[in-house]
Amino acid sequence: MADERTYPLTSDDGKPIYGLPHDDKELNRLDLQHEAVKIVFGDLNICKDQVDNVLDPLDGQRRVLDLGSGTGVWCIEMAEMYPHANILGVDIKLQEQSNLPPNCVFEIWDVNSGLERFYGQFDVVHTRFTTGVFANPQTALIEMERCLKPGGLLIIISASFLLSEDRKTMYPVYTKANPQGSWFQRSVMKNFPGLKKLGVDPQLFEREIDKGLWKHELLDPLSCAAALITVPIGPWPTSPDTKEAAQLRKVGEYWRDNFLIVHHHWERLHEASGRSRSEWELTVRKVDEELHETRHRVAIHMRAVWGRARGFNPSPSTVQRPLPLESSPGIFQVLSIHHSEDEWVRMGEEYRATFTPEMYSFLNIPNFDALL
Ligand SMILES: C[S@@+](CC[C@H](N)C(=O)[O-])C[C@H]1O[C@@H](n2cnc3c(N)ncnc32)[C@H](O)[C@@H]1O
Repeated sequence: MADERTYPLTSDDGKPIYGLPHDDKELNRLDLQHEAVKIVFGDLNICKDQVDNVLDPLDGQRRVLDLGSGTGVWCIEMAEMYPHANILGVDIKLQEQSNLPPNCVFEIWDVNSGLERFYGQFDVVHTRFTTGVFANPQTALIEMERCLKPGGLLIIISASFLLSEDRKTMYPVYTKANPQGSWFQRSVMKNFPGLKKLGVDPQLFEREIDKGLWKHELLDPLSCAAALITVPIGPWPTSPDTKEAAQLRKVGEYWRDNFLIVHHHWERLHEASGRSRSEWELTVRKVDEELHETRHRVAIHMRAVWGRARGFNPSPSTVQRPLPLESSPGIFQVLSIHHSEDEWVRMGEEYRATFTPEMYSFLNIPNFDALL
């Protein structure tokens, strides 16, 4: 079903080890998505103050590790922004790079084969949009923490890609019984059993993010925080503030353009979920149509968690500066930052309570509600 040329990553026994293609379209999309993330974060990093603090040039040699670095765009911009720091990006597949900043290098490494060779060396460990990468997320998080120097900062950015009506409620999915639901939601959900077939359970990763990092032994709980980022798909949210309205429109357009590309790249995952070729073709057509309409006012949830390894004196830098799209009462809220574990865990529980049994079936049962 899928074009083998775009999926070079298979293990010795011929099984795929990563669900998305590595072709130019996907790489260009990752760069577009990077720009879209920066608009939402208002910076290269959501916790810029903490990054500035741990990468303070006055205090010795600085090192940054990015796991699953993709096109390398985050690493390259980090290298430019912090020229005194050395940035290492690792990925299972390296991209050809020219004119790299001298303080930026890339290596091939399978993050599922352990991170021992990186232990204790880094001031920042970062991973973004790697939900479909870690075979054992609980162990992977501890492995990442072990790569930190004392006081080093771990940052994880995840995107669940499930659609919400607002910040708290899952969006209804198109089924035979509910033709008013979203085809896009359906297409997203079909990836879950497909990823499981490839040996990665995204729900395990999500569960780790739901807990935040507060209880992680290697991290200082006072330095831990989490952010919920609700990204509109399409330019539908409005605001009485003209500047804010323009910014929301831009965010919505960027993310819609990103999804118009990426849903075409889920072919292998749908196939692994047991979907037929004809159902795949129908789904692609319907999602393309839906993303061009405004009938479904939907958003995705991105989440970020971060915290610092024990062994430093906490400073007021743990207080977050206001961000451009942080809550304004009465308008679509893109970003909120949470310093309380209880609040974060409760938000996750409330959100999961809006999943219907049918949605769980989509996430867990291959070929559930097959159409063709
Ligand atoms: C969705 S992309 C995200 C790329 C980048 N972090 C970003 O935010 O643009 C996931 C990346 O993880 C890489 N990857 C997949 N499996 C991996 C593994 N086992 N070890 C290291 N990298 C892996 C893929 O090659 C891909 O570049």
